[in-house]
Amino acid sequence: MVISDFDMTLSRFGCNGRRCPTSHNILDNSHVVSEDGKKKLKDLLHYYYPIEIDPDRTLEEKRPLMVEWWSRAHDLLSQQKILKGDIAQIVRESDVMLRDGFNELFDQLHEYDVPLFIFSAGVGDILEEIIRQANVFHPNVNVVSNYMDFDDNGVLRCFKGPLIHTYNKNNTVLQGTEYFQQLSTRTSIILLGDSMGDLTMADGVPSVENILKIGFLNDKVEEQRGKYLDAYDIVLESDETLDVVNGILRYILIET
Ligand code: C5P
Ligand code: MG
Repeated sequence: MVISDFDMTLSRFGCNGRRCPTSHNILDNSHVVSEDGKKKLKDLLHYYYPIEIDPDRTLEEKRPLMVEWWSRAHDLLSQQKILKGDIAQIVRESDVMLRDGFNELFDQLHEYDVPLFIFSAGVGDILEEIIRQANVFHPNVNVVSNYMDFDDNGVLRCFKGPLIHTYNKNNTVLQGTEYFQQLSTRTSIILLGDSMGDLTMADGVPSVENILKIGFLNDKVEEQRGKYLDAYDIVLESDETLDVVNGILRYILIET
């Protein structure tokens, strides 16, 4: 099976020198958020993102600060009267891009009946809409993420728990391991991530025999390279494609 992060792993980090949005940024920058809301969300991003990727802070130090960031951002978004019916248009109008080769990845996994588990600290409703609009939301895809909770009128009132942030992506937020138990015949995993927090995404899998961890090193490359090389089996720099994982999958699924 494949276990993958979403933002900045399946989606692109940059294009022509410009940053691409995360699923949160798509909402933050959308026409449904007020100017004041946008400013506050941007201030949070500028304060907390450098902490998220700071190679000199421990995960223990970062965890409570990530809870603070996500909670404050979700509270701000929940004050914006976002409509469930607006999500598709918000995604369509955004600058989000999936990495080159996403079609081959999703289609190949579907064709060969390989489960794709997307484990995301982003916004589930947004990322599902992205893969739906890209026509790759096949039945072998399962998503665990932060989902929005809408009232009877379809207005966002809060986010459902448990809160998933960059550094609690492990079985503590998977509400039991039923999903993985169903897949207990799957003993080989390819894990895709872009953060040091993505390394624990396969922790709940009961019968792992082989795990290949592929990491996209997007930001603060020089400072983080050592840690990424120690933790991931393959580290990709300046690579906005899924070519490496597609090549490995082609080899495993077709040529062997
Ligand atoms: O899917 P993934 O786990 O990568 O999603 C989390 C990413 O979303 C983080 O890397 C973080 O930088 C970003 N984020 C954001 N705005 C927030 C919270 C997180 O852009 N309010
Ligand atoms: Mg990510």
